[in-house]
Amino acid sequence: MAENTIPEITLNNDVRIPQLGFGVFQIAPADTKEAVLTALEAGYRHIDTAQMYGNEREVGEAVRESGLDRAEIFVTSKLNNNAHDPEAARDATARSIDALGIGPMDLYLVHWPMPAVGDFTDTWRAMERFYEDGQTRAIGVSNFQIGHLERLLAETEVVPAVNQIEVHPYLSQTELREYNASKGIETEAWSPIAQGDVLDDPELKAIAAQTGRTVAQVVLRWHVQLGNIVFPKSTTPSRIVENRDIFDFELTDEQMSRIDSLNADRRRGPNPDEFNWIPE
Ligand SMILES: NC(=O)c1ccc[n+]([C@@H]2O[C@H](COP(=O)([O-])OP(=O)(O)OC[C@H]3O[C@@H](n4cnc5c(N)ncnc54)[C@H](OP(=O)(O)O)[C@@H]3O)[C@@H](O)[C@H]2O)c1
Repeated sequence: MAENTIPEITLNNDVRIPQLGFGVFQIAPADTKEAVLTALEAGYRHIDTAQMYGNEREVGEAVRESGLDRAEIFVTSKLNNNAHDPEAARDATARSIDALGIGPMDLYLVHWPMPAVGDFTDTWRAMERFYEDGQTRAIGVSNFQIGHLERLLAETEVVPAVNQIEVHPYLSQTELREYNASKGIETEAWSPIAQGDVLDDPELKAIAAQTGRTVAQVVLRWHVQLGNIVFPKSTTPSRIVENRDIFDFELTDEQMSRIDSLNADRRRGPNPDEFNWIPE
């Protein structure tokens, strides 16, 4: 506990992933390399990007320039919403791998199910081929609801390694997290501090005062104790370090329950059943 090391979680295909990573959504390309290098310097070994974020190239540059072995860093990217078609998926994947420039990805996700746009089971079959071809060490989904997963599991072969979904104290997603776990799918929590929305919460502030930690650290620790994989985003160097320092303290059962009770089923982002946005 005192060592403050980042634990790893073993995915359903035996690939290991650091439970804490660094998210780069909404980091401008010009700022991404420096932010990722700061995170790697602070001890992060897992980066979460996406073709949609427009900064894969800069993530790859940071990985290559970090001085660390490629194998020490876990890199996730995501299939864009305009690639829900096997041929488009092949092109998009080739572009991601080229932009990253670090060889195969560690984890590759279908970014959104896009239920009104394409058939995500066809998209998933294309993902299965990328996995078999060695373009990524694991495949998973993002923003899949129970109904989407039921269909995927019934109609395709490979069980997703992860489901990356919005989770934070105001949207605890208990049912979906339990469903994921029952199928051997790890839950990854996006917007883990609700893009800052939870930071002024009086109950969280009280727990932060009790533990001598910041609200962000308390919330990230809650995720870790729930078993979530988590990757807060920050371009502020002191916060990058702060968010990483969550493995040398523990929340009590009572503190965990108080955070659980803040759930309001309140999304910060779109509802995956209704979100069908395609980038230009
Ligand atoms: N799959 C998906 O559909 C999806 C959707 C959204 C996000 N994600 C992933 O999840 C990652 C994290 O989510 P997110 O970026 O939306 O939100 P987030 O990590 O919950 O919050 C980021 C915001 O919180 C601020 N912040 C970070 N640490 C802080 C601290 N210790 N104290 C105070 N403020 C702090 C950051 O500000 P500064 O940067 O100014 O420090 C930024 O404004 C993304 O980067 C992305 O990798 C995935």
